[in-house]
Amino acid sequence: MDIITVDTAPIAGQKPGTSGLRKKTRTFMEPHFLENFVQAIWQGIGGVQGKTLVLGGDGRYFSDRAAQVILRMAAASGASRMIVGQNALLSTPAASHLIRSRGTDGGIILSASHNPGGPDGDFGVKFNTANGGPAPESVTSKIFEATKSLTQYRIMETQDVDLSALGTTSLGRMEIEVVDPVADYAELMAQIFDFDKLRALFAGGFRMRFDAMHAVTGPYAKAILEDTLGAAPGTVVNGTPSPDFGEGHPDPNPIWAKDLMDAMHSADGPDFGAASDGDGDRNMIVGRNCYVTPSDSVAVLAANATLVPGYADGLAGVARSMPTSRALDRVAEKLDIDCYETPTGWKFFGNLLDAGRATLCGEESAGTGSDHVREKDGLWAVLFWLNILAERKIPVAELMADHWKTYGRNYYSRHDYEAVDTDVANALMDDLRARLADLPGQEVAGQTVETADEFAYDDPVDGSRAEAQGLRVTTREGGRIVFRLSGTGTEGATIRVYLERVETDPTAVDDDPQEALAPVIRAADALTGLAERTGRSRPDVIT
Ligand code: G6P
Ligand code: ZN
Repeated sequence: MDIITVDTAPIAGQKPGTSGLRKKTRTFMEPHFLENFVQAIWQGIGGVQGKTLVLGGDGRYFSDRAAQVILRMAAASGASRMIVGQNALLSTPAASHLIRSRGTDGGIILSASHNPGGPDGDFGVKFNTANGGPAPESVTSKIFEATKSLTQYRIMETQDVDLSALGTTSLGRMEIEVVDPVADYAELMAQIFDFDKLRALFAGGFRMRFDAMHAVTGPYAKAILEDTLGAAPGTVVNGTPSPDFGEGHPDPNPIWAKDLMDAMHSADGPDFGAASDGDGDRNMIVGRNCYVTPSDSVAVLAANATLVPGYADGLAGVARSMPTSRALDRVAEKLDIDCYETPTGWKFFGNLLDAGRATLCGEESAGTGSDHVREKDGLWAVLFWLNILAERKIPVAELMADHWKTYGRNYYSRHDYEAVDTDVANALMDDLRARLADLPGQEVAGQTVETADEFAYDDPVDGSRAEAQGLRVTTREGGRIVFRLSGTGTEGATIRVYLERVETDPTAVDDDPQEALAPVIRAADALTGLAERTGRSRPDVIT
């Protein structure tokens, strides 16, 4: 077991994005690519000497190889212990929990979240800090700096470690503890939710379908929903993680989880449906004939939080990313608690959660979570919904109708234009940015602009500032349009257009969102010339 030093040179394009470094799998498989980035992580965190880290991921293609490389590099640089999920599997929230509960120095998560996997798919490496959350800008920028000046990395030459057997082994002087990926997480869920009530719900004939999308949550959902709570066998579908996610796209939205949507709209469909993404941090909630948007979902959780034992004492505050609809703000106002607006990216919630300012957080991109971990958590959101339904004993559709009657409805949709030429996308954003100051008072496709600005965030806890976080325009008619370029895409640019309109008339909260938003959609196009510039007559994805 020799430690060798390998000569290398900086590789361009290793800047961590919204959520770690995400690239085509083949890029990660190129010589030195992974090794350089891992060495840069060690440098960015001030060395790994004497540290304990958690390691795991969503099981996508190349994770098994990457895990071995990371273990050999950790051992070569003097890490004292690595806690690894069996077969290198750990859902992102379970990894976050392990990092926290075992008092470690952080962890590495191997995932590209909801992006497809496989040799032609995507791969990703993300570093989380000791609080269990994605590394903040201050750390990722150090990692990026390190990628630009690397000349060497250290690695141990040795056989693969057997990650299929639970227990402790060692690699040189480093200990490796292989743990059951599910056990600790399941225990945490049992502390938060009323498992007796949930057992009674399923015993009473409540039918559910959970689509794990061939990704990491399968084993978690089976253990918790079927084995512990007594949901009927077969409740969890596509429950075995596969390296290419069954050649699918493990993104829980109405398009990629179409089978589930169809089941929920069939005559004898289940009472409740849910799905999670590649690494288990995203969720989709759907009732019978009733899709719940992520923005509405977090608002419903906040409004009903005290029904759940873990939140019975109420919420300290809530937070949402800026493009997420303002449905949550309306609930916060009624509850008389703070509602924070942060840039896109779960890492921005970390300080608010650590400081006890926010208890629940949510994002339009299907992320919901709380201070129980420092990542969004798909299965947690599903259990939260189940706990609410078990208490309120009404169908999802009725619950939503009741919510909108009480708080008004924020009609909401996101239109994505994917793989757009980067220059075209940048020009569209630059041109709009240049006109922001002139827009207030102007009429655009029948809507009058009220405010227009570029979002910047001042973190109230550490005082850091994040600039250029999206262009936003509100209208006097109650509309809001946000334009952003995605920070997670791996091909060209993805333009995201977030559309929202508030409706407080209780007799008008039941319309089709695309129709209710039609004037806002027209204004978005008129503001930017989106269709003409991108040459697309319609978005690639509508959520
Ligand atoms: C990841 C992050 C989220 C973010 C989402 C979309 O899932 O964890 O926090 O909202 O990506 O980011 P994007 O930059 O692609 O809009
Ligand atoms: Zn994810």
